[in-house]
Amino acid sequence: MAISSNMLFGTLYFTFISAIILPAAHHHVQGKLTPNFYDEVCPQALPTIQVMVATAVTFKPRIGASLVRLHFHDCFVNGCDGSVLLDDSPTIVGEKTAGPNNNSVGGFDFIDEIKATLNVVCFGNVVSCADILAVAARDSVVALGGNSYDVLLGRRDSTNASRDDANSNIPSPVSDLSDILAKFEAHNLSAEDLVLLSGAHTLGYAKCKLFRDRIYNETATIDADFASALKAKCPKAVGSGDDELSSLDETPAAFDSGYYQMLTRNKGLLHSDQQLFKGDGSEIDGLVKRYSEDAGAFTEGFGAAMVRMGSISPLTGDEGEIRENCRVVNRP
Ligand code: HEM
Ligand SMILES: *[C@@H]1O[C@H](CO)[C@@H](O)[C@H](O)[C@H]1NC(C)=O
Ligand SMILES: *[C@@H]1O[C@H](CO)[C@@H](O)[C@H](O)[C@H]1NC(C)=O
Ligand SMILES: *[C@@H]1O[C@H](CO)[C@@H](O)[C@H](O)[C@H]1NC(C)=O
Ligand SMILES: *[C@@H]1O[C@H](CO)[C@@H](O)[C@H](O)[C@H]1NC(C)=O
Repeated sequence: MAISSNMLFGTLYFTFISAIILPAAHHHVQGKLTPNFYDEVCPQALPTIQVMVATAVTFKPRIGASLVRLHFHDCFVNGCDGSVLLDDSPTIVGEKTAGPNNNSVGGFDFIDEIKATLNVVCFGNVVSCADILAVAARDSVVALGGNSYDVLLGRRDSTNASRDDANSNIPSPVSDLSDILAKFEAHNLSAEDLVLLSGAHTLGYAKCKLFRDRIYNETATIDADFASALKAKCPKAVGSGDDELSSLDETPAAFDSGYYQMLTRNKGLLHSDQQLFKGDGSEIDGLVKRYSEDAGAFTEGFGAAMVRMGSISPLTGDEGEIRENCRVVNRP
């Protein structure tokens, strides 16, 4: 089919007008995220991430767990600004080697692949690394059987990182409820958000060294059969089997309510998990019980809680930058 001069003119005209009008679409009100941020500047962005995540999860389900966790570890450290993705450099002490992250978080190479692909399909550096984390987390949840939700977009990337803040702001698996709650409240997240977001532990695994104290603690509230099964692969001696993995619930590649069911049976893997259900009839216990019985309420609520977590102190408008490469700032 011949291309008519009218069509050609139409295309050129559209391109010309777009060049004038579209930059205005970049200029969002400070502090406001919106689900439509990339609709005009790169309509292929979200479908591209979705296909890449769905494909990756088919081959390696744990990548989905990694991506959900990465977004959490990004947001809890000075907001959802892609800071967790920065490598160490002469001017930056990155967050990757902070205690909760070192040899523990993953998915960086896959984020690089997404970013490089988007730089091509968007004809340039358009999608922020912080937004990629938010979308990839949602797409992982969906690929593993959870409900979808609209991700708010328009975050920009930090030009710095803070290992110290990663060490102090990300909750520890040996913390008690009061400490964990305080870390969530510091980001304006409620007890219900804590219970819902912890439901991410329906996915993935934890290392023996992070639950050893719990399974060998004579006075801990833990199901006896569950503890002895874990002892078989997680020996008591520090240094032996430290990195052996155990799944956080019985179905680590399915986004279901299995995690809450484990808690109500005193089969929480981490001390911090079981802190959400102590059998004391507290409000938090009640929430865990509710989600253990109603997978639909969990997966609906989870999406809404992820949107609240994803809204922690974003950089917007002219703040920060859109990194060309998620590992380094644009002008080091
Ligand atoms: C509430 C306090 C939390 C604590 C103390 C905590 C702690 C941990 C620990 C210790 C691990 C295992 C790490 C390892 O073995 O190296 C883990 C895994 C994981 N966490 Fe959390 N977490 C918390 C909340 C969350 C939240 C809010 C999310 C996401 C919304 C999340 C997502 C995940 C996922 C998906 C995994 C499995 C990762 C994998 O298999 O690679 N966690 N968490
Ligand atoms: C991170 O882990 C490596 C071992 O893989 C270790 O050599 C390094 O000291 C750790 N970094 C920090 C800051 O603890
Ligand atoms: C914290 O949450 C409350 C109630 O949900 C809300 O009114 C307030 O604006 C939030 N503050 C921040 C800083 O997000
Ligand atoms: C063992 O469990 C008890 C009761 O939950 C707790 O008070 C104590 O701190 C635990 N000890 C260790 C080493 O985790
Ligand atoms: C990082 O940069 C932001 C601005 O982009 C600034 O507000 C913040 O204070 C900086 N944080 C650190 C730890 O230097």
